[in-house]
Amino acid sequence: MVQITFIQPDGGQTTLDAAEGASVMETAVNNGIDGIFAECGGAMMCATCHCYVDEAWAGKTGARVDGEEDMLECAAAELRETSRLSCQLKLSSELDGLVVHLPEEQA
Ligand code: FES
Repeated sequence: MVQITFIQPDGGQTTLDAAEGASVMETAVNNGIDGIFAECGGAMMCATCHCYVDEAWAGKTGARVDGEEDMLECAAAELRETSRLSCQLKLSSELDGLVVHLPEEQA
């Protein structure tokens, strides 16, 4: 299991145990985390799974995948250096303790 913490725009936090290999998006949706809509189900066609990787973890989550940058341009909230599509963030033991922030809006 891998621990992940979601932080809402109002500062509210939820920490979950997640399965290795699951995406951050799947973990959020399966646990009813507010703020991740994931309308396309992870097909990288909606940008409603936008999140901000915490600065402390930004160097560990790897680069954006092919096509992710273009889809992020469609995100409703402001883009930051740490913006990612959470459906493209796969959890592994190296990401145990990962912290992600939810944007103000998704659509
Ligand atoms: Fe649609 Fe991630 S779930 S782009």
